[in-house]
Amino acid sequence: MPERSRLERTFFRLEAQHACLTWAFSEIAARPGPVLELGLGHGRTFDHMRRNLPGREIWVFDRANDAYEDCWPDPDHLILGEIAETFPAFASRVAGKVVLANSDIGYFASGPSRQNAQLAARLLPPVMAPGGIIMSDLDLDLPGFETLPLPAGARPGTYYLYRRPL
Ligand SMILES: C[S@@+](CC[C@H](N)C(=O)[O-])C[C@H]1O[C@@H](n2cnc3c(N)ncnc32)[C@H](O)[C@@H]1O
Repeated sequence: MPERSRLERTFFRLEAQHACLTWAFSEIAARPGPVLELGLGHGRTFDHMRRNLPGREIWVFDRANDAYEDCWPDPDHLILGEIAETFPAFASRVAGKVVLANSDIGYFASGPSRQNAQLAARLLPPVMAPGGIIMSDLDLDLPGFETLPLPAGARPGTYYLYRRPL
């Protein structure tokens, strides 16, 4: 049995997302460029991003739109389907320009999570701007990226932060 209950794992993940997003919003404030959300889910983190990043282009990916109706992205920026299939066709539009990517595509099961960690680690680096930040619910193997400490309010090991060096 895992050390933490599902309630704790969910609660700590949401707590870490909120703390990391707050930190990331100020880090990218002076940096123009698009933002990515891998894993729309119910739209909670997307809704938080769009409210705190007015005017910023945010591209959102998921298999289907299962978001609360008041958290639906603009359909022109919502890319539905398997990320392994949709992202490569999209990537050239933002290559080297993304200032913040939130990858929230983990599962409680380790097998699919490992596959998605490999997917995110393969697809995200070519689109990141110098200084661009990747936030992830999964530990990613990102050669050439710095691993950053989590900000205050996020418990160690509950989220992961990386930056492409300038
Ligand atoms: C934990 S939820 C995201 C939660 C969301 N960020 C929120 O705040 O409500 C993970 C989402 O990732 C999507 N997902 C996972 N793997 C995917 C893949 N390979 N391709 C497309 N979508 C994927 C799932 O469909 C699910 O909606």
